[in-house]
Amino acid sequence: MTKQYCITLLSGDGIGPEIMTVAVAVLKRVGEQLDIGFEFKEALIGGAAIDATGEPLPAETLEICKTSDAVLLAAIGGYQWDTLPSHLRPERGLLGLRAGLELFANLRPAKILPQLINASPLKREVVEGVDIMVVRELTGGIYFGQPKGVFETETGEKRGVNTMVYTEGEIDRIGRVAFDIARKRGKKLCSVDKANVLEVSQLWRDRMIQLAQEFPDVELSHLYVDNAAMQLVRYPKPFDTIVTGNLFGDILSDEAAMLTGSIGMLPSASLGTSKPGVFEPVHGSAPDIAGQDKANPIAQVLSAAMMLRYGLDEPEAADRLEQAVLKVLDADYRTGDIMSLGMKLVGCQAMGEALLEALG
Ligand code: IPM
Ligand code: MG
Repeated sequence: MTKQYCITLLSGDGIGPEIMTVAVAVLKRVGEQLDIGFEFKEALIGGAAIDATGEPLPAETLEICKTSDAVLLAAIGGYQWDTLPSHLRPERGLLGLRAGLELFANLRPAKILPQLINASPLKREVVEGVDIMVVRELTGGIYFGQPKGVFETETGEKRGVNTMVYTEGEIDRIGRVAFDIARKRGKKLCSVDKANVLEVSQLWRDRMIQLAQEFPDVELSHLYVDNAAMQLVRYPKPFDTIVTGNLFGDILSDEAAMLTGSIGMLPSASLGTSKPGVFEPVHGSAPDIAGQDKANPIAQVLSAAMMLRYGLDEPEAADRLEQAVLKVLDADYRTGDIMSLGMKLVGCQAMGEALLEALG
């Protein structure tokens, strides 16, 4: 073996284990083809970790992740854990992982595939050719800012507080990642903020303008978040790369994902500077179809492709996985979420087999 990578697998909850099985199979296959060795280690997160250890992110899991080359995550959460106090909810596992690995940059591509254009809720002429990369800041902003909590005032009334904070350093490091990505794509970067109201956003905008001087070949524009939300559904084509804070990015990346019509197709990457990245589908754990062989494993496979491309610097292996996905779609294989008239309905496992066949 020329190369050997240690990958932590966090299958999590719901459909997580089923789609992870498919991703591991295709990774092994592409590894054999390109002489890349993978050593997979499984660890617990989310509801599965709560049931086994009482916490959504056991210390052991974070340790295993830290010592690996990359982390492939499937999905977390489910109805049975929804009523737990907030510090014990499965989502906390995800937030803890982001903080623990200092994954400040979250890349969420939303690309319309010609084979699935009819799945989009928008008209063909509006979405044809859409190819957007949302770069979301992931370890700062209102998700982590202090003070936070529910406090009692002098009158005994409760007061809920979260704080949107960004330092110049935090803005600059996400800004540089985004400019760099824009440079490798369509050379257009749109920074989204709420600078007409929020001071923190004014600082964000000022820093982005400053940073633009380091990237003279990238065209920088700005939109307020409400306008950006509107433009994304009105006329999304001009968007290339979007950079925004944690909360706005959470919302806009879901909106951008919906343009493609199937959230079951979309991967994401979360990157830091020195520690391993985490690669996961944008969709959730879909507890309603878990264990029924109905899940779409494609977002998980494309997350594995992002892991190869951005985490392990193995672009050829990444290309092969992405090509295999296009091939199975061209061969008309569809899981329930992307099914349309005249196509061949398959389950998660059969989609996995079709992907292996497409890989050759
Ligand atoms: C996401 C999710 C998470 C977030 C939740 C599950 C904590 O919505 O990854 O976009 O808000 O970041
Ligand atoms: Mg979200």
